[in-house]
Amino acid sequence: KRGAGEVAAAEPRSKLPRPAPSLPTAAALYAGPFPFYRRPSQLGCFSLDAQRRYRGDARALRYYRPPANGQRPDFDLRDGYPERYRPRDEEAREGLDHLLRWLLEHRGGLEGGPGWLAGAIVTWRGHLTKLLTTPYERQEGWQLAASRFQGTLYLSEVETPAARAQRLSRPPLLRELMYMGYKFEQYMCADKPGGSPDPSGEVNTNVAFCSVLRSRLGSHPLLFSGEVDCTDPQAPSPEPPACYVELKTSKEMHSPAQWRSFYRHKLLKWWAQSFLLGVPSVVAGFRNPEGFVCSLKTFPTMQMFEHVRNDRDGWNPSVCMNFCAAFLSFAQNTVVQDDPRLVHLFSWEPGGPVTVSVHRDAPPVFLPTWYVEAMTQ
Ligand code: A3P
Ligand code: MG
Ligand code: MG
Repeated sequence: KRGAGEVAAAEPRSKLPRPAPSLPTAAALYAGPFPFYRRPSQLGCFSLDAQRRYRGDARALRYYRPPANGQRPDFDLRDGYPERYRPRDEEAREGLDHLLRWLLEHRGGLEGGPGWLAGAIVTWRGHLTKLLTTPYERQEGWQLAASRFQGTLYLSEVETPAARAQRLSRPPLLRELMYMGYKFEQYMCADKPGGSPDPSGEVNTNVAFCSVLRSRLGSHPLLFSGEVDCTDPQAPSPEPPACYVELKTSKEMHSPAQWRSFYRHKLLKWWAQSFLLGVPSVVAGFRNPEGFVCSLKTFPTMQMFEHVRNDRDGWNPSVCMNFCAAFLSFAQNTVVQDDPRLVHLFSWEPGGPVTVSVHRDAPPVFLPTWYVEAMTQ
């Protein structure tokens, strides 16, 4: 009698029950030296306007303008809610569309030489952020759809059923908290380089400024885009992305235990998001129970790890980057066929490995016909 997994030698190769490929995610498996990560360079940018229309310029870029030296902030983050809130339609499935439009319009002038794009991975920075934090994530799973087209591997997130259910039943307090994050940006940014913030207007979350960058993780060339909160007109190095500033809000902390938990969980997400894009610092506004920000703190991205370096329950940037590199290799090796109508769906739930399923000519196919046809001309 044969044991499980053993097959008669005479069996034809094609009939062997091939084990479904999967990728483990345990942090311990990805310790080791920090992998190569090319300093991200900006290739271009685009904006999304108040109607969420693509604009091929920097019109939505805002300018960092914190309170004058010595002035304590006193920002009411609940001001204007809900009457001056124009939230983006979260039912709209944009996929990679805006980034693909930028790519279509700039594919002729890409640096890296001919064929660079054919060897690259194209995605949103936010998707890479989720990959970086996966070895430490215990709550939210993800699904990433992958298609190969003209050599390039495209990765586009698919909302999981659990995430969709959560979004549709988002409690009112959480909705207001989301607003408050954007309201903070309005207090900290001006529309013009010399201007002052104007918190009297609407908070419209359709508006976004996106940077498009080139980098490389290990052997994987990357072209990705990420939303940028603002640029600092007084930054020591004026060239993007070194001039960019990420804005965040967080609960005011009063005990060492609260700070520890903040370093272990929130700072990991802040680090992953800003490190990928090359944003040198995150400016946090701490809100009190009444929803007012009365203190600010700047966290340099490259110093965030120091807060957990000696914490046995902390995170490690090498683990994050090594896992991401391993996932990209896994995806490159899994998606072999070059076909924009073929999708490999990578799925992950906390506690398990990344698994794969295959789909054709139906959702979650995500490369739009207009893109495929224009690229085929
Ligand atoms: P805070 O993170 O400061 O609360 P970002 O920081 O990435 O620029 O996002 C701006 C704001 O969008 C966030 O501000 C938060 O209010 C909201 N936001 C972003 N990602 C979110 C998510 N996954 N769930 C809920 N709100 C989110
Ligand atoms: Mg933002
Ligand atoms: Mg922000």
